[in-house]
Amino acid sequence: MRPLRIALTKGRLEEKTIEMLSSLGYDCTSLEQKGRRLIFPIDGGKIEAVLAKAADVVTYVENGVCDLGVVGKDTIMEMGGTFYEVADLGFGRCRFALAAPKGTDFYAGYHTRRIASKYVNVTRSWFGKKNMDVDVVKIEGSVELAPVLGLADAIVDIVETGTTLKENGLEIVEEVCPVSARLIVNIASMKLRKAEIDGLIRQIEEKTAR
Ligand code: PRP
Repeated sequence: MRPLRIALTKGRLEEKTIEMLSSLGYDCTSLEQKGRRLIFPIDGGKIEAVLAKAADVVTYVENGVCDLGVVGKDTIMEMGGTFYEVADLGFGRCRFALAAPKGTDFYAGYHTRRIASKYVNVTRSWFGKKNMDVDVVKIEGSVELAPVLGLADAIVDIVETGTTLKENGLEIVEEVCPVSARLIVNIASMKLRKAEIDGLIRQIEEKTAR
């Protein structure tokens, strides 16, 4: 049987995920000196870690080529998919928010607002719940630019410290929901490798409860 394979999100969540695994006693030395490699043996090869972009973590886990994944709730909400979400890892905490240029009244008037976001599904569903018709424009990154350049009235994006909003003259209009890193598990792996996966989940739960 191949080693248990876990997909980790590159970038913002990477360091905290490695910290968590190390604190549980897993030897993550290979991930600390990673160079350009993308697959890493953990604990002498008992587990294999894969470093991927957030959306790809979900794809790999959903398709069963990775048994587990660590990914933000933001990506899970945007992509949906069929897998188990088994633990809130307690790090990568931020929130989804609607933000607009400081001093503007987002809800004033009756025109259809244009909202820029990387998270078009989250945006549509949130405004849908409000029964508010909006035009959503997909932006790939640095979404804060869109209202500053005049492309959109507001953005829906993740806010951590609020610095990016502040430094670009934007402010929160409304908070949408909290976000944090989650552990996800492939449906078949949960059955086929139950003992190993349960063991890992238990260790993580004990750690995050402390
Ligand atoms: C995220 C998010 C905001 C920023 C928020 O972008 O999209 O732009 O971080 O963080 P803050 O509240 O602490 O300022 P990220 O840096 O991941 O890059 P991106 O804009 O290219 O997606």
